Amino acid sequence: MTIRAAIVGPTSYTGLVLIEWLLRHPSIDITYLASQRETLPNIADDHPRLRGRCELQCQPIDAAAIAQAADVVFTCLPHVVAMEYVPALLDEDLKVIDLSADYRLADAAAYERVYGRPHADAGNLKHAVYGLPELFAADIAEAQLVANPGCYPTAATLGIAPLLQRSLVQPTGIVINAASGVTGAGRSPKPNLHFPEVNEGYVAYAPGVHRHQPEIEQTLTRVKGEAVSTLFVPHLLPVNQGILETIYLDPKDDDVSEEELFDAFDDAYGDQPFVRVRRDLPNLKYVVNTNYCDVSVRLVNAGSPQDDSDDAPGKKVVVFAAEDNMIKGASGQAIQNMNLMFGLDMATGLA
Ligand SMILES: NC(=O)c1ccc[n+]([C@@H]2O[C@H](COP(=O)([O-])OP(=O)(O)OC[C@H]3O[C@@H](n4cnc5c(N)ncnc54)[C@H](OP(=O)(O)O)[C@@H]3O)[C@@H](O)[C@H]2O)c1
Repeated sequence: MTIRAAIVGPTSYTGLVLIEWLLRHPSIDITYLASQRETLPNIADDHPRLRGRCELQCQPIDAAAIAQAADVVFTCLPHVVAMEYVPALLDEDLKVIDLSADYRLADAAAYERVYGRPHADAGNLKHAVYGLPELFAADIAEAQLVANPGCYPTAATLGIAPLLQRSLVQPTGIVINAASGVTGAGRSPKPNLHFPEVNEGYVAYAPGVHRHQPEIEQTLTRVKGEAVSTLFVPHLLPVNQGILETIYLDPKDDDVSEEELFDAFDDAYGDQPFVRVRRDLPNLKYVVNTNYCDVSVRLVNAGSPQDDSDDAPGKKVVVFAAEDNMIKGASGQAIQNMNLMFGLDMATGLA
């Protein structure tokens, strides 16, 4: 079987990564690259890494033409922009994998609260499936529209879900301390992302108000079946690619052991090709340029081990999760989803 793939927004960072991985996929032909630009670029001029490997001329964003050429389309567009184009692509019976945030929050009112404008495609929003393959593979396989998860939410959800499912941790008071490389912010230049601003710095942003916090809570609440609340604090890390999250949780009770925490991870991910449960601590170096999310966990004393008073702070569960923001956090995960939507092994082309 050869699947014909189109990309809308191939001049993006995630578009570049998607093209590079799709070129290695045994069942894919990239047939249509769709750009908004008035002067349509050859993709190898825009992404010189592709010279000699993919030299397709970009075409206009025309849903009917894309449907003639392709079976599946990846939309690598900013949020708000994506939902302008997705309805026409779905009307053409294309399978759509949207890498933006436009179809991730199931509730249109929640979307408006978080993104500051009404959802423009509430009809299709109802049918979108959240594309985290480790949790929702069966739904993804049946979907026409997959909302590819955010980069930070992928690592956070994979790190927390098994512990909530086993009731080993409290569903409230979860603190997610996360750091991402600069490609996470996309390719458009911004003053705070200028090299001298980022290089050798390390800074938090949007503590408790980042748009990924409600996305993380939505998935964990669904998994747990009761309200889960988090405090998400992202940081900008002066590297190109990679996310590391350190997540602090309260154990359900005093009897929880580190072995039980690892058992929950081992059971959840033993059969999953792209989540590795590590006994050592995850490191960006082990995951960058791969589709893996590495997770680990420790049960630690929050206060002094000598403090055996009644009001001693007790123990904390600390989870560590690392991934490449543009691969497991975006384009690699999108290919995992495409594989499921076309009945392929989810690891095809991603090893
Ligand atoms: N970067 C990551 O690590 C990451 C991870 C997970 C999810 N995501 C999400 O994936 C999506 C793409 O992210 P990215 O970082 O790859 O983006 P990016 O590098 O900033 O590129 C944005 C793309 O959208 C196109 N575009 C912008 N405005 C448009 C419009 N009005 N009409 C048509 N095309 C338009 C741009 O085309 P031009 O080149 O012509 O301007 C470009 O191809 C975003 O929603 C992002 O939040 C990103």
